[in-house]
Amino acid sequence: MKEIKKIAVLTSGGDSPGMNAAIRAVVRTGINEGYEMVGSIRGYHGLISGEIVPLHSRSVSNIIQRGGTILKSARCKAFYEKEERKKAYEKMQTIGIDALVVIGGDGTFTGAKLFGKEYGIPIVGLPGTIDNDLYGTDFTIGYDTAINTVMEAVDKLRDTAYSHDRLFIIEVMGRDAGFIALRSGIATGAEIILVPESPTYIDEMLYKLEKDWKKNKTSGIIIVSEGDDSGGAMEVEREINEHFPDFETRVSILGHIQRGGSPSAMDRVLASTLGNAAIMTIKDGVSGVMLGMVDNEVELTSFEKSIKHHQHIDLELLDMARVLAI
Ligand code: F6P
Repeated sequence: MKEIKKIAVLTSGGDSPGMNAAIRAVVRTGINEGYEMVGSIRGYHGLISGEIVPLHSRSVSNIIQRGGTILKSARCKAFYEKEERKKAYEKMQTIGIDALVVIGGDGTFTGAKLFGKEYGIPIVGLPGTIDNDLYGTDFTIGYDTAINTVMEAVDKLRDTAYSHDRLFIIEVMGRDAGFIALRSGIATGAEIILVPESPTYIDEMLYKLEKDWKKNKTSGIIIVSEGDDSGGAMEVEREINEHFPDFETRVSILGHIQRGGSPSAMDRVLASTLGNAAIMTIKDGVSGVMLGMVDNEVELTSFEKSIKHHQHIDLELLDMARVLAI
């Protein structure tokens, strides 16, 4: 195998709080191990266009607490095309990049898997997404911050829900997975949590609301994942209004606020640990894997597996939430 001298790091897909902490850990560990470190701007786009910046210890000062990503991020559709990956490879050869650390989700690892196989480039991945839907890690970088952001927003909404005797239907992110809805719902004592992993029966939901009302609940919170089969918060509100015209409802779609903000301590520590381990993994000659934290240990999962499998939501937690919301 070719000697590795220069390593590039990039962030790709939807950004998540803690990506900067991961970049910092990758860069500083790399420098400590004697590698030259560079960053690719806007994920894979930077590799294709040659927008590569040098990264020194000081380039990553004062970023551990910052949300977003200093390297910028993008969902690079072009990278799915063989021709574009060839361009990226050629640019890497010209610049002298020998290995890659990619931070992102499923799409990022799909690109990495193809690229690594085609050109034999050592690539390791770090799980960066607020959705927590990646197989091979208990938690992804950004998830903890996102659920805390949701929790703070819902606490505020509950204040006004209580004052006005209103039912709030709050939509949270998670196109394909309900992890954000599940844990933020438990943390805020939501009356109802709707997630894509469990079918939503509107009749059941209406029955629960009616029961709550009879038990003198005069306000409430429904958390619905954007990917839920109910169709989302607006649709849930429409059903409720149709059946209970006396209920006063409001919808709040939290949106991209969930993707920003200063990372929590948990996310900073996770990002730092995995960022550090990413460089050591490359140094050990291992490639084509995503690093994750499983039962407090760093674990490696092949890109293939991490893409193919999905992290399963704990449905027992959903049952528990139902009991606690009576
Ligand atoms: O994958 C992370 C995520 O935030 C999803 O929860 C959400 O559905 C999606 O990205 C939104 O993507 P975009 O920023 O492209 O609108």
